[in-house]
Amino acid sequence: MTVTIDQFVGLATARHCTRAFAGGPVPREILDRVLAAAAHAPSTRNGQPWRVEVVTGAALDGLVTRLCGEFDRGTPPRLEYRNRPPRPDPVAEQRARAAGAGVLAAFGIARDDEPARRAHLRRNLRFYGAPVALVCHLPAGCGAGTFLELGFFLQNVMLGLVAAGLGSCPQASVASYPDVLRERLGLGPDRLIVCTLAVGYPDPEAPVNAFVPARAAVAEYVRWHRQPLPVPWAMAIRGDAAEPAAVRAPAVGTAGESTTCSHSRERTS
Ligand SMILES: Cc1cc2nc3c(=O)[nH]c(=O)nc-3n(C[C@H](O)[C@H](O)[C@H](O)COP(=O)(O)O)c2cc1C
Repeated sequence: MTVTIDQFVGLATARHCTRAFAGGPVPREILDRVLAAAAHAPSTRNGQPWRVEVVTGAALDGLVTRLCGEFDRGTPPRLEYRNRPPRPDPVAEQRARAAGAGVLAAFGIARDDEPARRAHLRRNLRFYGAPVALVCHLPAGCGAGTFLELGFFLQNVMLGLVAAGLGSCPQASVASYPDVLRERLGLGPDRLIVCTLAVGYPDPEAPVNAFVPARAAVAEYVRWHRQPLPVPWAMAIRGDAAEPAAVRAPAVGTAGESTTCSHSRERTS
């Protein structure tokens, strides 16, 4: 089978979070096909470390009741791994604020409306009303590389769901109640709960599903190297010499050009 670049671009850019669902069950056959295809993701020496609990029906109702119960009791959320750098990047922080504000605005929630904001957090724990929740976990104590492998797999899942007319929302918020998830799903302390994925048919009328956070221009996160770096710069990287300011490479995120690196917006032909 041939997939064209246009089909790929169409699929990749069609995936954005679904936070309102139209209702209606998701056929198991579709989920089985998507999950099987997603496992074609790469993993170190083909270890395939991802594990997924598919939760629906009464099991989902029971899980939601317990999660909301913890939330209403004021149990503090406790993600079992670090998902933000110790010193957050200001640009990323600004994007996070913009994305959060966009979601709240699409739900019609004012910035200073604390009760409505809290209700929004609670809606996360209801998987935004999705009929299916995937709970993804890895071996406890696994390294960053294993997270990368789960990420490859999950992106495949999300794209496959789009191809099947379904929507999804990855959630760290629900994984912040790991004890409830372990108890309801029969998982031991040897498993690290990484995230959940709310899955269902998108509500086409819901404004929140039309919200797409802006993406940075390619030139902000890609640099091209066509010539070797000047020798003094290479020595500086190896620690053989102090970094000579004259050959300092432009930081990613700046519009600067060096004699050796060109940003991707420059044509290659
Ligand atoms: C690891 C991870 C955790 C996330 N957790 C949540 C969450 O708890 N609730 C939520 O509504 N969205 C969550 N998101 C979705 C992001 O907010 C969303 O992907 C980002 O704003 C970009 O928007 P888009 O996916 O719609 O393009 C999460 C995404 C990732 C990758």
